[in-house]
Amino acid sequence: MFISFEGIDGSGKSTQARLLAEALQALGHEVVHTREPGGSPGAEEIRSLVLEGDPDRWSAETEILLFTAARRDHLEKTIRPAIAAGKVVICDRFADSTRVFQGVTRGDLQDKVNRLHNEMIGIEPDLTLLFDMDPAIGLARAKGRQTSEERFEDFGQDFQEKCRAAFLDLAKAHDRFTVIDAGREIEVVAKEVLTLVAGQLSS
Ligand code: ADP
Ligand code: TYD
Repeated sequence: MFISFEGIDGSGKSTQARLLAEALQALGHEVVHTREPGGSPGAEEIRSLVLEGDPDRWSAETEILLFTAARRDHLEKTIRPAIAAGKVVICDRFADSTRVFQGVTRGDLQDKVNRLHNEMIGIEPDLTLLFDMDPAIGLARAKGRQTSEERFEDFGQDFQEKCRAAFLDLAKAHDRFTVIDAGREIEVVAKEVLTLVAGQLSS
């Protein structure tokens, strides 16, 4: 099973992905917990190119190419081998992030994103959990972390508002999405996520 975690910055994806991975392992599942951009040595190198530096360092079009290049390497080296071995893959962000962050927020580039995706990636997760919450709170949470990877957070709150709306539009359009209210306590969200995923794994 291939599960992606999506949502705006600071919505708790990384925290919840880690908790789900630990809980599934405790239940005896073999789990690969990975992330984008990154998740393979080559893709991690591309990660620092796209997440560090000035917000206007790259155009949205150049970013589409960089994120898709990173995803292709991640798919070849990490995701496909894990799926083939029957493991549960938990991926912190996947192609929906490109659809939103590059496809919608800085002009309508959705068609370009989808064409490149179909050509170079060609798979979707079985299940996508959308961690939905108020961007002001998400951004405050994200800014509380000490990291140099702030290029997208520096686009500001309006940008994150657009991202939230675009994620919710994708969720309405595709059955593989489940929207999670991410504004609640960590343990409450984790319990809902585990119940949902364990239910799908046993069905
Ligand atoms: P994301 O991966 O979506 O950017 P993180 O999991 O890194 O989000 O969480 C961002 C920050 O918010 C972290 O410092 C984390 O400890 C904190 N956090 C995560 N979930 C919650 C929550 N439900 N309530 C309060 N703080 C949270
Ligand atoms: P991530 O490390 O998940 O950040 P956070 O934990 O703050 O949510 O992702 C870093 C940034 O990269 C995030 O702001 C979204 C952006 N991003 C894209 O713009 N396009 C993409 O295809 C991906 C995977 C991420």
